Parts: sequence; structure tokens; C-alpha cells
Amino acid sequence: PIKALLFDLDGVIVDTAIFHYQAWRRMANSLGFDISEEFNEQLKGISRTESLDLILAQGGLTLSDEQKADLAARKNGWYLELVSQMTPADILPGVTDFFGQVKAARLKTALGSVSKNARLILERIGMLDDFDAIIDGTKIARGKPDPEVFLKGAAELGVQPAESVVFEDAVAGIEAAKRGGMRVVGIGDPAVLTKADRVVASLAELSLDEVLIF
Ligand code: BG6
Ligand code: MG
Repeated sequence: PIKALLFDLDGVIVDTAIFHYQAWRRMANSLGFDISEEFNEQLKGISRTESLDLILAQGGLTLSDEQKADLAARKNGWYLELVSQMTPADILPGVTDFFGQVKAARLKTALGSVSKNARLILERIGMLDDFDAIIDGTKIARGKPDPEVFLKGAAELGVQPAESVVFEDAVAGIEAAKRGGMRVVGIGDPAVLTKADRVVASLAELSLDEVLIF
């Protein structure tokens, strides 16, 4: 039986995936090139430093570690400007209702995010207390598609991977869940998230009952 649900943050609970893209794009533009929305799909679920490396390669730039640290900090500053405007109204459609069903069914929940800003965002939207465990970018050594973030979440909740379902908007995150031996619901476009067990446009399309019979 399913005992626990593990949620990605950016693009699943809130639409910060767009803020990441805007901030990276601003950085790329400042360096004289652009990044497309299609390219951005690869950045979802990937750590800040890995994202920067992919973007610089895309722009054909090789920079020193110091320059890279400076750019990553600048991007994060722009990103946090956008995050600072967030309120509970930014919670994505269906999330609050779905969590109501999850609590009523007494299932456990964990956050599984590569972001180092995860707690800050949960605070801003008033969801810090909605998770029994929070695994974020400060607690892991490897980003998605490595399964570490989800395996740590399941371990902290005291459940087996096979008793867990992951909710993910990223190709790398779906791969992480699969490598971890978990079932996974993709949030987004079925043509992009081809490896998910089920894909919905948002949690508003899904009832908990449908997840429990997975
Ligand atoms: C993930 C996002 O949740 O967190 C990535 O999908 C992002 O796009 C990563 O790069 C790291 O986030 P942060 O907030 O630590 O820069
Ligand atoms: Mg995401």
C-alpha cells in the first residue's frame, strides 16, 4: 500500500520554475545570449551550479570559478526578488485541496527539492508545517536525476520506496524517482514527461483515490 507522498517544490507546489527561468534568462542576456523555454526543460530539477554550467556551455563561455560563483549569486539575487513577492495565493491550483485529502487519509508527506531556497518559499506560502519531512538542497550531496533526495525523504518518513509516490514536473526528477524505485506522477506535458506513470496538467486534475490504486 501507498504510505507516503513525496513532492517536488518548484513547478509542483508553486510556479517558481518560471522565476528560475526568468532569472537565468536575465543572467544569460547580460552575457550576450538567450536561452529558450525548450532548453530550460533541462534545467528543471538540476542544482544551481549544474544549471549554470549548462547555460554557460550553451552560450559557448568558459569562466573561472570565481566568475561562476559571482554569476550564481547574482542569479539567486534576481530569483529571490521574485520569490519575495510570493504569497499563499501563489500555491498552484489543486494543491491545497489535494493536501486536505492527504491529511484526511493520514498519509505522510515529504518535500524533495534540490533548491536551497525551499524553506524560504514554503514559509512565504504558509506551507512549512504541511510536510512531515523536508529534504532540500542543503541536505543532499547529489541533485536529481540522482535518487538521493527522494530516498532520504522516504527514509526520514520511515517508509519503503515502493510505498511512496513522487510528484514531479521535471524530466530529471521523474528519472530520480524511478531510479529510487518509486512511482511517479508527472505534473505538466505528457509529451515531455514520458517516463511518468501518469501525467496531469495540475493537481486539480487528480484525486487522492486515483493515486492510492496505482
Ligand atoms: C530546483 C529547480 O527545484 O532547484 C531548479 O527545479 C533549480 O531549476 C534548483 O536550479 C536549485 O534551486 P536554488 O533555489 O537552490 O537555486
Ligand atoms: Mg520542479
